This record gives sequence, structure tokens and C-alpha cells, in this order.
Amino acid sequence: MGYPAVRLRRLRRTPWLRETLRETRIVPQRLFLPIFLDPALSREEPIAAMPGQFRYPLEQADAIVRRAEKARLGGLLLFGRPERKREDGAGAWDPRGVIPRFLRRHSGTTSLTLIADVCLCAYTRSGQCGLGKGGRVDNDTTLSALSRTAVAYASAGADWVAPSAMADGQVSALRAGLDGAGFKDTAILSYGLKSASALYEPFREAEDSAPEVGDRKGYQMDYANAREGLRELALDVEEGADALMVKPGLTQLDLLWRARERFSHPLAAYHVSGEYAQVKAAAEKGWVTEERLVPEILTAFFRAGADIVFTYHALEAVEKGWL
Ligand code: PBG
Ligand code: ZN
Repeated sequence: MGYPAVRLRRLRRTPWLRETLRETRIVPQRLFLPIFLDPALSREEPIAAMPGQFRYPLEQADAIVRRAEKARLGGLLLFGRPERKREDGAGAWDPRGVIPRFLRRHSGTTSLTLIADVCLCAYTRSGQCGLGKGGRVDNDTTLSALSRTAVAYASAGADWVAPSAMADGQVSALRAGLDGAGFKDTAILSYGLKSASALYEPFREAEDSAPEVGDRKGYQMDYANAREGLRELALDVEEGADALMVKPGLTQLDLLWRARERFSHPLAAYHVSGEYAQVKAAAEKGWVTEERLVPEILTAFFRAGADIVFTYHALEAVEKGWL
């Protein structure tokens, strides 16, 4: 049966009806806010390419924690910077580093799930996500550094650790390290499907983590490769990942959907810095209406199968009632 007996417009007649029948809803608790911590600052500092986002010194981040709790976000994704970059990235696992200090300060007292990003790019002089010389990254020496870093964060109170270095075997290395140190309850969210993307540029400004030479294509995936992306995720599942992530977001919604069909794990999408910057720039020009665009984008992630979404819009969208 079709038109004229069938008229889909009947069910779109009133705002109440449309709201009643809405298939996908955004719950604040499914949103996670990424934040940047910088021990060298005495007060918060705006990130130019990410309007509305800041680098926070430890104490100044307290206010963000309170706001995220009040907004009932699911949690925070933590990125740090060292006092000083080093060849071996040792600032990443230094227990006096800004991430362990933040974790000790808030874990156990906040309802938020605290997720620590585990990578070396903000900590190495090379700006690469792993260790090596001349722009080359040695996978296997990187693994022990990542595992050490994850253990440092877990012992400071991280609920989850999220390895983003795209090292082969990083999930099993972290699981072994965590279990060996007695952190059997610390979960691993794998950034399994992470493509080399032009959309990370504002983040690299925020973190001062751009590679000195070359790029990250030797370890991050080619965004053209869907089947390879699914292999990445399947390997992370085998290695014991508790949850999976697809990153970046909108440009890979097809992969998110395919991951949803294939795996039963909790699935995260990352609406990354460049995507945030695009929205902010167009909104500043008055070319798009942010409060309509942001919910549309976030809904797309959930409709495509995400259980949680990492987004810099999280706090503003909830506080301003955009969702
Ligand atoms: C570091 C890391 C990056 C992002 C998350 N973790 C940048 C990169 O790989 O260069 C990007 C997040 C964003 O752009 O918002 N491994
Ligand atoms: Zn990195």
C-alpha cells in the first residue's frame, strides 16, 4: 500500500508527536568531554583553533569537573602535557605528571568516569606517538612505554585507559601491564580504528604535539581503508579491549555502522577537534546555527550506532539545552 492511503506526514503533524516518535535521543551521560591539562600554566589559556576550549592548570580544572558533574556527562577524556618534552617521552608515565595528579585529585570523589588517553606524542621531542629515531617509530619499544604509562594512570585512579598510539599489540601490552600490576578492573578503550586525518590539526595546536618531521601515516590508518579498519577493531577485540572507538567521526560514520553490526562491544565515536573547529568557525561567521547543527551531528553518531561520543561540544550543548 502506498499514497494516497499511506501518508507519513500524519505522524509528523505536531511537535508533541514528533518528539514522541523520535527514534534516537541524546542522553548527556553518553557524552564525554575531552580536556587539556598543562602543568606549566598558572591560569587557563584559550586554544585558538578551538574556540571555547582551554588548556587548564591542575587547580583551574576543578571548575570544569564540577560543571561536567552538574551537566551529568558520562565522564572526561584527559590529555596532558609534560613540564619538558624528552626523547624517551618519560613525562607520560611520571607519577608527578599532570595526569596522575589530576587523577589522584578527583578519582573516588567524582561520579564522572575518568579516561586517560595513553600516547606519547605530547611527551616526545619528535612529536611521534611512539619511540624511535628520525621520524621512524619502533613498534615494540613503544609498547613497553605505553604499558608503563597506562599503569601510572591506573595507579593514580584512572577508570579507563585509552591507547591512541596505533601501535600493533598495544591493547594486549596494556592488559598485561595492568594485570601484572594488579589493575584488573581498569578498562581499556581502544582507539582501534584511528585514521590519519587532517581533522586533528587543532588538537595538535592544543597539545603542541605535531610531529617534528614527517607524519603519522606509518601507524595511523589510511582513511580510504574500510576493511583494514575492521581488522584493526577485530584484533583489539582479540587482545581484550573492553570498548572500541572509531575516529575521526563524521567522515567515518559508515565504519561506525559496520563496527556496530559486527561487534557487541560498547562503541565510541570521536567528534574530533577539526570537526569542532569547523562548526565553531561557521557559527562565528553566522553561516550556520550552532544550536541546531550540534544536536544534528551528535544524533548522527548515535543513530549510526555509537554508545558514547567524545565531543568538545558536550558541556556547552548540555548547559545551553541544545539537546
Ligand atoms: C594523540 C591523539 C590525537 C587525537 C587524540 N589523541 C591526535 C593525533 O593523533 O595526532 C586527536 C583528537 C582530536 O583531534 O580532537 N595520539
Ligand atoms: Zn599520539
